Amino acid sequence: MNQITIHNLRKQFGNQVVLADVNMTVPSGKIVGLIGPSGAGKSTLIKTTLGMEKATAGEALVLQTTMPNRKILGRIGYMAQSDALYESLTARENLVFFGKMRGSIIKP
Ligand SMILES: Nc1ncnc2c1ncn2[C@@H]1O[C@H](COP(=O)(O)OP(=O)(O)OP(=O)(O)O)[C@@H](O)[C@H]1O
Ligand SMILES: [Mg+2]
Repeated sequence: MNQITIHNLRKQFGNQVVLADVNMTVPSGKIVGLIGPSGAGKSTLIKTTLGMEKATAGEALVLQTTMPNRKILGRIGYMAQSDALYESLTARENLVFFGKMRGSIIKP
């Protein structure tokens, strides 16, 4: 079964086409790496798939559900490449904080 299905996903910022009708699937049990130069659109593909950016056209399904979908967001983890952690907190405090946000019980 596919965990992620991306179908004709298109993303433009103004006239700039960043994702030109991307199709891909990620089956269960596979780890996929997106490789490309800076500005290739790797982050845009992930953000559009999760619904953090609105797709210009096409759709993305995560766990067989069209995104964005709030319930599905609670079942996946996304670590942003920047501004992802609070630098005023320790590594452990970050883990406890984000764990609590997801409803996990972690002893401080
Ligand atoms: N919010 C935005 N508004 C306008 N243009 C954007 C926006 N986000 C990304 N872009 C543009 O889309 C293109 C793809 O950017 P993206 O961040 O997806 O690349 P990337 O492959 O993740 O690069 P990097 O390896 O540097 O992380 C770039 O030209 C970028 O300037
Ligand atoms: Mg990026």
